[in-house]
Amino acid sequence: MKTVDLIRKKRDGEKLSREEIQFLIDGYVGGEIPDYQVSALLMAVYFKGMDDEETAILTDVMANSGTMLDLSKMKGFPVDKHSTGGVGDTTSLVLIPLLAAAGLTVAKLSGRSLGHTGGTIDKLESIPGFRTDLSREEFLSLVERTGLALADHTEDMVPADRLLYELRDVTSTVDSLPLIVSSIMSKKIAGGARGIVIDVKTGSGAFLKKLEDSRHLAQALVAIGVHLGRKISALITDMSQPLGHMVGNALEVREAIDTLQGHGPQDLEDLCCALGAELVLFSGELSDHSEATEHLRKLLHDGSALEKFVQMVKNQGGNPAVVDDLNLLPTASKQIEVPAPQTGIVANLDALSIGRAANLLGAGRFTKDDVIDPAVGIEVVRKVGEHVNKGEPLAILHVNSEANLEQAKSMVAQAYTISDKEVATPKLIVERVTGD
Ligand code: URA
Ligand code: CA
Repeated sequence: MKTVDLIRKKRDGEKLSREEIQFLIDGYVGGEIPDYQVSALLMAVYFKGMDDEETAILTDVMANSGTMLDLSKMKGFPVDKHSTGGVGDTTSLVLIPLLAAAGLTVAKLSGRSLGHTGGTIDKLESIPGFRTDLSREEFLSLVERTGLALADHTEDMVPADRLLYELRDVTSTVDSLPLIVSSIMSKKIAGGARGIVIDVKTGSGAFLKKLEDSRHLAQALVAIGVHLGRKISALITDMSQPLGHMVGNALEVREAIDTLQGHGPQDLEDLCCALGAELVLFSGELSDHSEATEHLRKLLHDGSALEKFVQMVKNQGGNPAVVDDLNLLPTASKQIEVPAPQTGIVANLDALSIGRAANLLGAGRFTKDDVIDPAVGIEVVRKVGEHVNKGEPLAILHVNSEANLEQAKSMVAQAYTISDKEVATPKLIVERVTGD
């Protein structure tokens, strides 16, 4: 087999076979096929696409390019959740313990923040002592004993995705549906989950802002999961405004603890229960959607999910006392209000601007090597549809330095549009995409 022939084949819109895809991925990961040939191939895929079968094969081959986790011996049904990334998207922090409380197995591999969206690893690391650099043995043993653990992605898993992603980034081939789908799904498949739910965000703070694009991605992810024998569904959810009230690492841990104590923001609780219900149904524990949702709501309100959270924090070296004393979390030195310029109803709260402003304050990274400040971020006081009087706070900036402060403040002020008319709250769960 010659790489140049396979590039030509894809250039001419033909379908690559499993053997051909295997040859290309093995060759690239093994260092035998050079970047310039894979760059040309990626551009051919960008223009000619791949059908579901071909994308499923690419996903499978990529997943198998490194270590695969085997969760088949675990007591509970192994599940995973993926979000395409949002602003103040605190769901994983709540869902991991919530799903474990429901008896499911959660071996969660997560990422750090990059760009305007946050990362679960950074958020949980704001708990003093919390470790995510677990060895594979330690990680799997925690999952086996307790039903949950969270660790950073390791280099030995899905090396094909890491290499391809870096190349896509510099060849303008990130925005290709089969490449996005295989990138996301290869990591889920390698992680060993049998049941997967995808939270595809839509709106200004999302990776895909238009509903139609989010829908295409959701359908493609579900189709590939089904092809590979997984139970999978996707919820398309609103990211036109931030989720919950907190945006920032320790701030989101506070919000997650509030939610695990049964008094978190309604949208965050509703989304966690809805995403979790999909997985409870896949596990076969319950068969009715609203019953599954209410079961999870009960576990949030009776302390069961909080108990699993405390167990996870303790097992991963964190201080579990944070649950009773939120002031043990990193706290910013100053809180600065952004006042409403007029009385009215919030008509728009642009998630992307809030995410960028939180980044400017130091909550996120602009490049991989930036160091984040766990304490800083933005507390969104008023959300879309809510009334505010002139001079009352729309948002509160939690800051530790004057750097970028004025810019962040004006960005937050401009993220808000105040109207004198009634405005409906945006629908949180826009669509559900299932594999049937
Ligand atoms: N997220 C991923 O993991 N991969 C992509 O290609 C895009 C988003
Ligand atoms: Ca939040």
